[in-house]
Amino acid sequence: MNNSAVPRAASPASIPLTAGQAKRYAVTAWYLLATMGHFIFATYILAVFYPPIAAHGAEGLAGMHLPNGFREGDVVGNLAAVTHVMIAVVVIAGGPLQLMPIIRSRLPAFHRVLGRCYVMAAMCSATVGLYMVWTRGTVGGLVGHIAISGDGILILIFSALTVYNALKGRLATHRRWAMRLFMVASSVWFFRVGLMGWIALTGGMGIDFKTFSGPALTLLFFAQYLLPLAMLEWYFRLQRPAPPAEQWGFALVVMGLSSFMAVGIFSATIDMWLPRV
Ligand code: HEM
Repeated sequence: MNNSAVPRAASPASIPLTAGQAKRYAVTAWYLLATMGHFIFATYILAVFYPPIAAHGAEGLAGMHLPNGFREGDVVGNLAAVTHVMIAVVVIAGGPLQLMPIIRSRLPAFHRVLGRCYVMAAMCSATVGLYMVWTRGTVGGLVGHIAISGDGILILIFSALTVYNALKGRLATHRRWAMRLFMVASSVWFFRVGLMGWIALTGGMGIDFKTFSGPALTLLFFAQYLLPLAMLEWYFRLQRPAPPAEQWGFALVVMGLSSFMAVGIFSATIDMWLPRV
């Protein structure tokens, strides 16, 4: 039989990328996109919350889009809300900077100082956030309260483990906990991007906007930190030799999630953040 007449299946050699390269490119693209999205959110926080707080103190939060931002006479609660939104900038802008390899290698002193500020800001934000949720409440009902509290508790635990391993000089373990901390401390960003991406693609299927509840929101309340954490654990697993099929699978899932994230970042910027600036 003449072999040239038989159509040949694409051999791995005919694919221009190796599985390892595909994984690396997908992760780099995800990181660049996430960094851009974090910086947009940090700019929004600076532009929307800092000027009214600088001009009027806690009362500057009155009448804003935060349903529980300011309450007449509640000094401690108002102080908590002001602290929470002001230090959010350090968490949101500082996280991607800490993960930037060039900063870690070229500016180690900056990396150390920013790392300390980041962990302190994340712990403070989570503690104050827990206080706000259980004294003033927030949107999302009991399920929302429980989900965001789970995130707050993970932030505190991961912060402690990040610092502990750094002090013990276990740098590889420290780095892993720092990356886990980034995922849970950025959950508020993942939530907004996920929500707006979902609304843009489905028109808000599974969400009751009057009560801000529904199956899609319940899923998102938990997915805002559990999905990034699960993807990170998969990434760690692939640091050891893994079959090419699994690496390709990971790269494709990251690319799919990044595409969704790109829609969410665009939609959150245009429809949520810019109109409030
Ligand atoms: C450490 C990471 C966190 C950051 C960077 C962060 C950031 C923010 C920002 C920027 C806002 C203003 C909302 C907006 O304009 O969209 C906000 C509001 C709020 N956050 Fe956080 N947050 C974090 C963690 C938490 C946690 C762990 C909790 C609770 C356990 C929490 C509870 C709240 C509450 C209750 C509000 C006010 C919502 C309202 O008025 O109903 N946050 N947060």
